[in-house]
Amino acid sequence: MGTTNKKERNFIFPKNFLWGASISSYQTEGNNFNSDWWKWEQEGKTKGKSGIACDYWSKYEQDHDLLSELGASAFRLSLEWSRIEPEEGNFSDSAIRHYREMLQDLKNRNIKTVVTFWHWTSPVWFQDKFGFDQKQSVEIFSRYGTKISDELGDLIDVAVIVNEPAMPLFFGFLLGKFPPGKINPVSFFKASSNLAEAYRNIFNYIKEKRSGIPVGISSLYNFFEPKNKWNPIHMLLSWGGKKIWNEFFISKIKGKMDYFGLDYYFHDRMGTFGIENENKKITEIGWEIYPEGILEVLREINMKYDLPIYILENGLSDSTDRHRPEFITEHLFYVKKAIEEGIPIRGYFYWSLLDNFEWLHGYGPRFGLVEINYETLERKPRKSFYVYKEIIKKNGIG
Ligand code: BGC
Repeated sequence: MGTTNKKERNFIFPKNFLWGASISSYQTEGNNFNSDWWKWEQEGKTKGKSGIACDYWSKYEQDHDLLSELGASAFRLSLEWSRIEPEEGNFSDSAIRHYREMLQDLKNRNIKTVVTFWHWTSPVWFQDKFGFDQKQSVEIFSRYGTKISDELGDLIDVAVIVNEPAMPLFFGFLLGKFPPGKINPVSFFKASSNLAEAYRNIFNYIKEKRSGIPVGISSLYNFFEPKNKWNPIHMLLSWGGKKIWNEFFISKIKGKMDYFGLDYYFHDRMGTFGIENENKKITEIGWEIYPEGILEVLREINMKYDLPIYILENGLSDSTDRHRPEFITEHLFYVKKAIEEGIPIRGYFYWSLLDNFEWLHGYGPRFGLVEINYETLERKPRKSFYVYKEIIKKNGIG
């Protein structure tokens, strides 16, 4: 995989650089039976069902112990809308209290809280009665977001209002793969502008009430490039990919992001027949491992948006942990290069702390620094956990 030599691998990150890992509520908490994804699973649309997942909901202290052991200075987790508002307009005090305890526990450990308000899952009532393609969704989602700010804002260090909007919009409204399972361009455009409008409302509200919290989204931002940079078709496809996949939603919330949240996983080398990657290295689920691409996207993002950057997700599915240590080291090598070029990168979050429910793929893929035994729910840090721990301790490599 690597192009880096031994000497180049000695590097120290800036002081106060945030080191973290990410999870999401639906993928780890378990028993989110009021969620549209739960319904989706019962309808047989996923490979297996999420069930109790990692039971992070009740085992969170154990997982926070692991974070402390890792030396993480930040943790990214998400809130489950269907727990917080199980019925339309009825907010659950006990769920809010539980999230307060979780966040407080992180604070007590001196771990900064990076909190995603919506990581794709909605309450069943919302999906049945409204959905993001309906205009009322703006008011409903904005009400949820402002409620979070009121109830939990004092415990939030960074707010991520929406995780990777491209995924639920494209997969939910154009490809029919995620709830609500539509294949309808009109719905897609309506849902995109409604979600963006609600985002802007929540952004404005937090700026007014809790101005200290940086607010933004996390973006799945792929490295698109033409296979042959002299071929007009390749160039067009690469340009189009960027516009449609990377920039479509962001263009609707311009000027309303305090930081850029990057989720980097993919390299898309566009040839005449679409993506034509060399695939010298691929993960267990067939994704190309392409660490140098993170430098390219960091440069692009810096030029376009001129904002502080948090890398909020980067990781791979690797059940044997054979590639993960090098994967992390290689990506960080390019992140450091970007910092040396003056790009203001404030933190790196590995996806994921724990193995978890990988949406349509079910429990097959294993992204965790920590292995979960799904029979016993036992947690077992992998070798890469200790490699990452060492990097955090040294604030670098070498
Ligand atoms: C999502 C996660 C997902 C991960 C790996 C990201 O796109 O935010 O929920 O598990 O990628 O596929």
